[in-house]
Amino acid sequence: MSQPSIESTLHEDRVFQPPAPSDVGASDWLVGSLAEYETMHKRSIEDPEGFFAEVAAGFHWYKAWDSVLEWDAPDAKWFVGGQTNACYNCVDRQVDDGFGDRPAIIWEGEPIENGVPETRTLTYADLQAEVGKFANVLKSHGVTKGDVVTIYMGMVPELAVAMLACARIGAPHSVIFGGFSSQAIADRVCDAKSKVIVTCDGAWRRGKVVPLKENVDNAIKMMGDQGEQPVEHVFCVGRCHNDIAWGALDRCYNEEMSKASPEYACEPMDSEDMLFLLYTSGSTGKPKGIVHTTGGYMVHTAMTARYTFNLIPDSGQVYWCTADCGWITGHSYIIYGILPNRVPTLMYEGGPDYPTAARFWQIVERHRVTQFYTAPTAIRAFMKWGDEHPASADLSSLQVLGTVGEPINPEAWVWYREHIGRGVCPIVDTYWQTETGGHVITPLPGATPCKPGSCTRPMFGVDAAIVDADGAEQPADAGGLMVIRKPWPGMLRGVFGDRQRFIDTYWSTVRIDGEPVYTAGDGARRDADGNFWIMGRIDDVINVSGHRLGTMEVESSLVAHEAVNEAAVVGVPHEIKGTGIAAFVSLVPGKAAGDELKDALRAHVSSEIGPIAKPDQIRFTAALPKTRSGKIMRRLLRSIAAGETEISQDMSTLEDFSVVAKLAEDKE
Ligand code: WTA
Repeated sequence: MSQPSIESTLHEDRVFQPPAPSDVGASDWLVGSLAEYETMHKRSIEDPEGFFAEVAAGFHWYKAWDSVLEWDAPDAKWFVGGQTNACYNCVDRQVDDGFGDRPAIIWEGEPIENGVPETRTLTYADLQAEVGKFANVLKSHGVTKGDVVTIYMGMVPELAVAMLACARIGAPHSVIFGGFSSQAIADRVCDAKSKVIVTCDGAWRRGKVVPLKENVDNAIKMMGDQGEQPVEHVFCVGRCHNDIAWGALDRCYNEEMSKASPEYACEPMDSEDMLFLLYTSGSTGKPKGIVHTTGGYMVHTAMTARYTFNLIPDSGQVYWCTADCGWITGHSYIIYGILPNRVPTLMYEGGPDYPTAARFWQIVERHRVTQFYTAPTAIRAFMKWGDEHPASADLSSLQVLGTVGEPINPEAWVWYREHIGRGVCPIVDTYWQTETGGHVITPLPGATPCKPGSCTRPMFGVDAAIVDADGAEQPADAGGLMVIRKPWPGMLRGVFGDRQRFIDTYWSTVRIDGEPVYTAGDGARRDADGNFWIMGRIDDVINVSGHRLGTMEVESSLVAHEAVNEAAVVGVPHEIKGTGIAAFVSLVPGKAAGDELKDALRAHVSSEIGPIAKPDQIRFTAALPKTRSGKIMRRLLRSIAAGETEISQDMSTLEDFSVVAKLAEDKE
């Protein structure tokens, strides 16, 4: 590699062994030892076709596949020639097997009246009827196999119904997170040439109504003004009963459903037919539509959900992932990966601190949640809100805790285990991406010894490695590029309408033996025990005096300081070092910002990582600026650190970058 390799400086020596299943109230571990995991993983890599043929045999197929895998890099086809339907495997199959009366979706709304929230439980039979009805509604409005349906809704059961109805008829869905603006809707609808949008009048968020329908109306107007408006029908679910305009394209979901028949046979789909596309941001401004297909995605998500969360039907489990269905986590680990496992999936509509910071823990207590899956940023918020909130609820039902979305700093990991996991629940730190479809590196709760901050070991079928730019595998503890050397069933099949971007982004950085390999865009290292440590996006790596540092490692060190709640680190041009380090820090309540603390934090980082990582600038802020999806706005921070973005408010000690973030986002 021509450039210096990524240097890793985060050292974490604590190891937490998996507990016995009875220690956490589980009936069993599906994989009960590291040796068992290793045997299974080895087989999945040496004989992927045999391994995945066995896994796929656990699903319903209308027609068996002719071959398990065809691989012509970068194009993978799984279960080639096979026909199946993801909705059938999520819903109908359970009914056909005699489990129609079991809960499939447990839903809790945000508003609380007289101390009680609205809750709904849909059994598999209920879900089958609702999905069948909406499939008929879509069909009667001309939607057929291959048409892209845009879904822009709050976290209500109708969102799951809409997604599954699309899968039922073979119309790929494109779900847009309800926090996105009208412009984002317009861009995505145009890119996908989507004729149908499914939305709600509004969505509840922290006691307020997000005007979803109005945002759709504005998006349609924008598209009209641009002269490119493909939408023919907008289905609107009544949820918040806020005032909405009603135009020629609008159809009332509730009225249409009341007229529709629940009978609709699932469409047999080719294994490689598109199941959905999901837009995600890349390094350019234009979002890319990541394409996932049917058979491989279904098998990969359901298998990983089963092993990672230890899902066991009929054992009293209730699984809760706090993500929104607008993200890949919601697609894979609220809907498609969970329902085939016949463990009820909980959907919560609203904010984590509404009406109080104990809301999540009350939900865990109320529904006896056994698996809880959330993001490190949420965990850091829980820490900030105070230990008394989780302590006020009965969390004894919890068996397995999970995290996803960003590296988790060891302090948050340990807090999560102590305060949510009763000091005993295993934590699965799942590393994956929109592009990977499902987990690619993760502990298994009954098998993997965990080190806080490490996502540990590759999932079955995933041949992950750390390499340099020439494709050479890096020695233990040396940082490099995260790659996956073999195809896996849930991998993306393309970027919608942009073959070149697919090749350039994922298949052009590293070659091994002349063949392109999948490059994830993350820097990582593997320790001597075989555990993977993600060091952050390659574009978040900074080069200080010729040494590359993962920004996450500096952040993690800062967050380990008792005064710090959250930290974001970016590179800033520096006269002597080339790049210096700027740290944006929000404090634990009651801690005083000031020069003394700045000095203490510099000394702390210096002693934890080394003088090379000592921040050149430390700026205290009430909150870090984040996109609506919760990602820290690093580009904005870089420009603030470099003095390019002015902050007009009075900034005596605590700066409010969230205001600047809002301005920046509105401009997008
Ligand atoms: C990051 C979310 C460290 C990583 C499922 C990846 C993580 C990007 C982890 C994908 C983790 C996700 N540890 N980093 N456990 N999980 N990431 O597409 O940088 O929203 O490339 O998918 O999040 O984000 P995406």
